[in-house]
Amino acid sequence: MSSSSGHGAAVASRGPIEWPAALQPQVTDILSRYPTRQAAVMPLLWLAQDTWAWLDLDVMRLVARTIDVPASQVHAVASFYTMFKKAPTGKYLFQVCHTLSCALVGAEKIVAHLERVLELDAHGNSKDGLFTLMRVECLASCGSAPMMQVNDHFYERLTPESCDQIIAGLRSGKPLAVPRPEVNEWTFPVS
Ligand code: FES
Repeated sequence: MSSSSGHGAAVASRGPIEWPAALQPQVTDILSRYPTRQAAVMPLLWLAQDTWAWLDLDVMRLVARTIDVPASQVHAVASFYTMFKKAPTGKYLFQVCHTLSCALVGAEKIVAHLERVLELDAHGNSKDGLFTLMRVECLASCGSAPMMQVNDHFYERLTPESCDQIIAGLRSGKPLAVPRPEVNEWTFPVS
């Protein structure tokens, strides 16, 4: 899940923040699991993203203060991974893999289709604010290419038609559970 083309505007700021009191036990627990505070950077970024929806400079500064490192170090980690959001996104984040296996079987066609049907702005966000589209590097599902990750779930062997079904399901509030092709009994409800 390394970094790739971005989807949003530059990192912004929302003012100084602290961990909510209710999260303090979780922060303490995360810190206790690692030999050094610095080693907790990724789980703390994940917790912060869960809490504030995306990581602006003030959220990164909070994580940096929590683990006693310069904010630039936390920013470097957050910037490397596409799973960490550096700008607000729609409710559903579509991360389409465009690495070799997916590229060979139509990733660009999928991206072009999504761009067209979602009517995206310059930052990759749909007009209705529901969707954000990103291109990302390999998500380790190469055998089921082309594929994308929608929030925390994989949709594989995509076609323009299956993309339409996925979008319609998300828009209707009844997300489509797409069977994993090689393990048909598995389904992936989208939260
Ligand atoms: S190349 Fe697309 S998942 Fe690996």
